[in-house]
Amino acid sequence: MAGRIPESFINDLLGRVDIVDVVGPRVQLKKSGRNHKGLCPFHDEKTPSFNVNEDRQTYHCFGCEAHGTAIGFLMEYDSQTFPEAIETLASMVGMEVPREAGRGPKVDTELYDVLNAAARQFQRWLRGDEAGSAVAYLKERGLSGEVVRDFGIGLAPSGWERLKTALTSFGEQKLIDAGLLVRQEGGRGRVYDRFRERIVFPIRNTRGRVIGFGGRVYGDGQPKYINSPETEVFRKGRELYGLYEARRAQRGLQSVVVVEGYMDVVALAQHGVTNAVATLGTAIGESHFETLYRHVNLVVCCFDGDEAGRGAAWKAVDAAFPVLSETRQLKFVFLPEGEDPDTVVREKGAEHFRTLLDDAVPVGEYFLDHLQEGLDLDQADGRALLAELAAPHIRRLPRGALQEILINDLASRVRMDASVVAGAAGGARERVPIRDPRANERHGIGNKPLLKYVVQYPQLIDGMDATVRAELADPTDASLLADVVRHLVDEPGMNTGTLIGCFVGRAGYDDLAALAEEETLLAKEAIVLDLEKRARRYVFKRQEAALARRAVESGSVDDAKRLSDAKVRQAL
Ligand code: UTP
Ligand code: MN
Repeated sequence: MAGRIPESFINDLLGRVDIVDVVGPRVQLKKSGRNHKGLCPFHDEKTPSFNVNEDRQTYHCFGCEAHGTAIGFLMEYDSQTFPEAIETLASMVGMEVPREAGRGPKVDTELYDVLNAAARQFQRWLRGDEAGSAVAYLKERGLSGEVVRDFGIGLAPSGWERLKTALTSFGEQKLIDAGLLVRQEGGRGRVYDRFRERIVFPIRNTRGRVIGFGGRVYGDGQPKYINSPETEVFRKGRELYGLYEARRAQRGLQSVVVVEGYMDVVALAQHGVTNAVATLGTAIGESHFETLYRHVNLVVCCFDGDEAGRGAAWKAVDAAFPVLSETRQLKFVFLPEGEDPDTVVREKGAEHFRTLLDDAVPVGEYFLDHLQEGLDLDQADGRALLAELAAPHIRRLPRGALQEILINDLASRVRMDASVVAGAAGGARERVPIRDPRANERHGIGNKPLLKYVVQYPQLIDGMDATVRAELADPTDASLLADVVRHLVDEPGMNTGTLIGCFVGRAGYDDLAALAEEETLLAKEAIVLDLEKRARRYVFKRQEAALARRAVESGSVDDAKRLSDAKVRQAL
């Protein structure tokens, strides 16, 4: 098997390739200055909002938020794998791709082959002569053969070694790695089929490759569903059931409905509501929203009308807040007690369901209504409490129109001046949390505005005060910011594209790519000044946090005193 591609080669390659040469032959671009514009290849549009930036060597669509480097473009547009994209770029500039010896973190593409073969086998079984009661069950749930085919639904028959036998050519270990076979713990370590006597729903990624399965009992039995375990290709935290099918059913998909169950997705499609998706037996999280907003602008959550469903809705608010904006909308539909989307669409029809979607409650309204429950806003206490409850959440919203709308709404509910509420909800945003001084070191990006400058203007690091720069690059700082600065110190002269290239396939890549595209309102001269100022403050805060931690841990009066001295110096 081919080894890992060295990072230094990827940097070198990204330094030589021009993204315009990569995108140009695939998308018709019009040049305006150092920018190139065209119709976005990743969503349906009539006016061009797709931009390729020569300086930064990145692309960005203002319509669908697609963005990335030349590598990312090939992966998205040509559905190439990461190594394939590297090969393509290397051959464009006549370079040979070197490989490091040993096994790298390369995705094992054979897993896709195994999973695909399994999906086909399950489908064959559903058409076979053991399928009587499974087919009857699907019919009773109101599903037609057409929808069953569109979703690739199949049958895992009874027996312990059916799939194991059918796919024996792949080898037992591959089937275990794919999550299809289970090795019995301890004992003789018997290996058997994970899915037995169940209707199976293949879960596909947005490129249409099968990455896992959900299996439902169709007779009696427990548990009702079992799902594939996490594997190298199956990440439950970001994948959604039905997203591929929805994108295939509707070109230029604008919105999705998030429901709780596989059956809800399929039943809605059966009735012509072809844009439903579901998480994979997990709660919806921030990464799910990230995935969704790469494809649509509006997400409507429609969970079951029970305690669990209502709890899920509130959790969704929390998960979505950091990624929302005025163009990334979130709404909620609340179903009557005891109903789920499947029962509603079957009893009342698609038209009725669509009116529910049209009347969905915007996230801001639901958020404040929910917090307000049980509070008496005629009392000053109640109003103060609402403001206090809401502020930390509002602080998690990206700055922008949505945050302002919420602040204004909150202000009018609590009868305070919007600027006061804004102070509470926005002012503390950049404070380094002294309560847990280690938070910054453990993970996190460090300091967002600072990181954004560094990503957008990597050369500025060269001209920076050497002491501050060394502090930023402190080897004990595990933040993304410190990591980026260390890269720039090691290898001066990188541009944005090359820098981001260093993080391809690593945690932090998405953050950096997004920051590279964020709008900057300051002129470059102002950024130079602001960067220095922020860098000094960041470094200072970190030292202060370290002192505070030492003071707490050692109970040392000296450290506490140095901390208060530092505070005085800062104030001067
Ligand atoms: P539901 O119980 O609402 O299932 O669980 P459903 O999809 O609506 O199915 P029907 O209508 O009862 O046939 C919602 C989701 O929770 C996960 C599955 O992803 C399911 O689709 N789940 C549920 C499990 O993972 N395991 C279970 O045992 C139950
Ligand atoms: Mn259900």
